[in-house]
Amino acid sequence: MSILDKVVAAVTPPESDETRAKARQEARAAASPGDWLSMALDHHLAIEGAFAEARAAREPSARRTAQKKLATLLTGHSMAEEAVLYPAIAQAGEKAHAILAYTEQAAAKMQMAALEEMDPMSEDYLDKLGHLEGAVKHHVYEEEGTWFIELKKKAPAADQPKITDRFKEQFERYMGVDSPKTWNDGR
Ligand SMILES: [Fe+2]
Repeated sequence: MSILDKVVAAVTPPESDETRAKARQEARAAASPGDWLSMALDHHLAIEGAFAEARAAREPSARRTAQKKLATLLTGHSMAEEAVLYPAIAQAGEKAHAILAYTEQAAAKMQMAALEEMDPMSEDYLDKLGHLEGAVKHHVYEEEGTWFIELKKKAPAADQPKITDRFKEQFERYMGVDSPKTWNDGR
């Protein structure tokens, strides 16, 4: 099994829901309103909601629509992380963590692409969606529990606003009209 396959092999993440919730709470406490960390945490919540929507859809077109929303959000968020946050993690002296983060997101992108080719109402589809969701949950836990906390602590204070500006810019550049401001306007 390749590293990329291993990343999405387990449906259930190794850490418990309580452990994940505690890490999220601590990450929230470390974030300031509007900074890169609070934006990333908001994205993570939206991604979890998009997974739930895709799973809950009861007919093919609704599931495809939910899947597209999930893919857009997951790609926009991960590309902004890959362009800004992971390089900053490497520069802060945590290169191994940055490399693992890139590897896990490469696997997620391949799984997302594979979903597009599958019958959206099949068992196989739900199985793959479940594996992807489990892998993303674990990845998010690593970010919120360790990697982002390291970045918050280790990157110089003067660099933090730059990281925020660039993260926001990259995310919005990808999302375009789908950026968060317009998500809930009834479309
Ligand atoms: Fe993330």
